[in-house]
Amino acid sequence: MLILGIETSCDETGAALYDTVRGLAGHALHSQARMHAEYGGVVPELASRDHIRRLIPLAQGLIERAGHRPADIGAVAYTEGPGLAGALLVGAAVAHGLAYAIGAPVLGVHHLEAHLLSPLLARPAPGFPFVALLVSGGHTQLMRVAGVGDYELLGETQDDAAGEAFDKVAKLLGLGYPGGPALAALAARGRPGRCRLPRPMLASGDLDFSFSGLKTAVLLACREGPLDDARRADLAAETQAAIVEVLVAKSLAAVAREGLRRLVVAGGVGANLLLRERLDERARRLGVSVFYPALEFCTDNGAMIAFAAALRIGQDARPVLGHRAAAGFTVRPRWDLAAARA
Ligand code: KG4
Ligand code: ZN
Repeated sequence: MLILGIETSCDETGAALYDTVRGLAGHALHSQARMHAEYGGVVPELASRDHIRRLIPLAQGLIERAGHRPADIGAVAYTEGPGLAGALLVGAAVAHGLAYAIGAPVLGVHHLEAHLLSPLLARPAPGFPFVALLVSGGHTQLMRVAGVGDYELLGETQDDAAGEAFDKVAKLLGLGYPGGPALAALAARGRPGRCRLPRPMLASGDLDFSFSGLKTAVLLACREGPLDDARRADLAAETQAAIVEVLVAKSLAAVAREGLRRLVVAGGVGANLLLRERLDERARRLGVSVFYPALEFCTDNGAMIAFAAALRIGQDARPVLGHRAAAGFTVRPRWDLAAARA
């Protein structure tokens, strides 16, 4: 079956075709980053309007390039939540309209579930069960994943997400949006440890996180002296080191606590190279295997939506593939993953 996946939860318009026999048949992405950069962050109304402009031509081009026609599509999947309400509505409306037109079933996908399952698109793919570190702009969670749809929350951030910490500190240091990649690039020119920052909740004994204090600590450090280029780079390097140290320690603690040997990293911050390097190094010594999605599938994309739908359809075809296209649709701007399939 050929599945079209549509992602419009935030500032990326994504579409992909996943063939349940042959694998990924193509994907297309338009990032709104440049449009939002002018405002220092995502402007929800602009995001929705841009999805409206981009989504249909993006999906049409994708289907043509893959040598298919809309009628070949066996199911249409879209991000139902969580995300920005207006942005989600665009994807939901296009998915339902297209599905109705071609007589295909339509399926709403949980955005975090799609991130969580995205490392299974790569080779080698991890087997179940595994611990997943979900690190995006909106979420920082550790989950035990026993199978598709079987997720147990082990710990999560009490305040800011790791990606949010990257973004906010980047803003303090005068970097553009999105801050994660910009902060990582500046960090490469600095030395961690010169301006010492805290490692929040490192010794808390649980699997929870807290990143909002880090941004305050950077703000205070910025006020201490002249913020020249060298000091900005040192602060970037120390911020990245602090976030990575906490993420690595808690992820490996979760793996040990669950008695598992597999760790999966998903979400935008999973593209961070220092995080990958440190995790690989520590995990190797502990005999733990770490799995990542391809770099291009760490941040938001349509491929993970089509793929998550394929796994859900493969596992549980009947209840999932209800013909809901004619019956109106919902989006879920806030949607708890652990309760998503209850
Ligand atoms: O998963 P994602 O694309 O969107 C959400 O669902 O939130 O994640 C975006 C987040 C942003 O906070 C961005 O700054 C961060 O991922 N990010 C990075 C890197 N690439 C993206 N953070 C650190 N290092 C990176 N290389
Ligand atoms: Zn995401």
